[in-house]
Amino acid sequence: MAEIITMEGGNRLVGQVRVEGAKNACLPIMAAALLCEEQVVLCEIPPLEDVQTMCKVLAALGVQSKFCAADKKLRISAGQLNMNEAPAELVRQMRASFLVIGPLLARTGRARVCLPGGCAIGIRPIDLHLKGLKALGAEVLIGQGFIETTANKLQGQTVYLDFPSVGATETIMMAAALARGVTVIENAAEEPEVVDLARFINSMGGRVIGAGTETVRIYGVSKLYGCEYSVIPDRIEAGTLMVAAAITAGAITIENVIPTHLVPLIAKLRETGCHVLEEDAQVHVSRNSPICAVNLKTLPYPGFPTDLQSPMMALLTLANGRSVITETVFENRFRHVEELRRMGAQIKIEAHCAVVTGRDSLRGTILKATDLRAAAALILAGLAAKGRSQVSQVHHLDRGYWQFTEKLASLGADIRRLSLRQAADDL
Ligand code: UD1
Repeated sequence: MAEIITMEGGNRLVGQVRVEGAKNACLPIMAAALLCEEQVVLCEIPPLEDVQTMCKVLAALGVQSKFCAADKKLRISAGQLNMNEAPAELVRQMRASFLVIGPLLARTGRARVCLPGGCAIGIRPIDLHLKGLKALGAEVLIGQGFIETTANKLQGQTVYLDFPSVGATETIMMAAALARGVTVIENAAEEPEVVDLARFINSMGGRVIGAGTETVRIYGVSKLYGCEYSVIPDRIEAGTLMVAAAITAGAITIENVIPTHLVPLIAKLRETGCHVLEEDAQVHVSRNSPICAVNLKTLPYPGFPTDLQSPMMALLTLANGRSVITETVFENRFRHVEELRRMGAQIKIEAHCAVVTGRDSLRGTILKATDLRAAAALILAGLAAKGRSQVSQVHHLDRGYWQFTEKLASLGADIRRLSLRQAADDL
């Protein structure tokens, strides 16, 4: 049933909160479980919509998965993998389900997957995924809305990526894990989630070397084995909560964090005037001075993450002065701007740049989430705004944040999730 999130802005957020396992690590790792006939046990799995969608994709391929919410463990047994077509409606719903193409091809010699969907943040082509599979010897047929790829046995090869695409690096890494010989990915993505996938493949007995650098070598093996593996903490959820502390002039300790994954955000938050204290597996963020304007540019890791661009924009709408935000990763990632403007934010878009002129306050209003990270940004803006805000289309939020409203409420936010009927009564 459709729901909305309603909040009364103005409360400082104070306290401690724990981050879940990383969505963007666990989705490719779930796909990589298809490479192995034995059971794998994945730990720290967040019970998100996207994880459920990936479980449905696996089920459609004949693969059993069992999630235990109590211990956040997901067991996947791909011994019965007996289909090689991912259902179109699921792939359209979530782009990451396209990631089954590499492991399906490697395991069964054939994969048919429809063209992917996901957040509406630009064209998001898959040419680099296909370039990699072709280099490994796969035949690729592009039909009406679907891709079919076949190969008797994949053969290691050197692949240069024109852009360090996260998904393409992951697709090639998974396909190459069971290929003959050595695959080298040049200009590979260096994101922590790519490293986590490599570590998972290695835990199953694979040989991936150099993940986290621009050159990744995959030495193909003939078989992979069951294992137990814990995914890394979600740096984007952590980052969103850090910005929540900043925008509400609060003081939050965020637990289950790898601070080195958050270097660019920590640097930028400090430039805005926040205090950020890094400890082993936690960061403490607080602010007790006005927000300084900063410029930032999204880039592949270790640059500033595009997934935190919209939360940072929400913060900078309240800064002293003018900030310029340049988006270089996706070409249509300013869809939250119109909604922020409805709250009184002063933002001008010039090509790939958003010029944000800070104001003293935002005003609460009725808002619509347009994609996953936009949903988070609007909620943060609502927490800092004067008066009440309502955010609709919250299914976007559920794709990537687990119990987000509950976590914010536990930190002192006046926030609730309501059905549409309850919301109408509430007005
Ligand atoms: C992943 C993340 C997403 C994040 C993004 C960038 C998951 C499930 N999602 O998405 O949250 O915002 O990384 O950090 O992990 N591109 C091509 N050709 C391709 C593939 C990509 O041109 O074959 C382009 C895209 O259009 C985009 C850029 O490369 O402009 C980055 O995309 P990519 O790194 O592949 O992102 P995703 O893996 O889709």
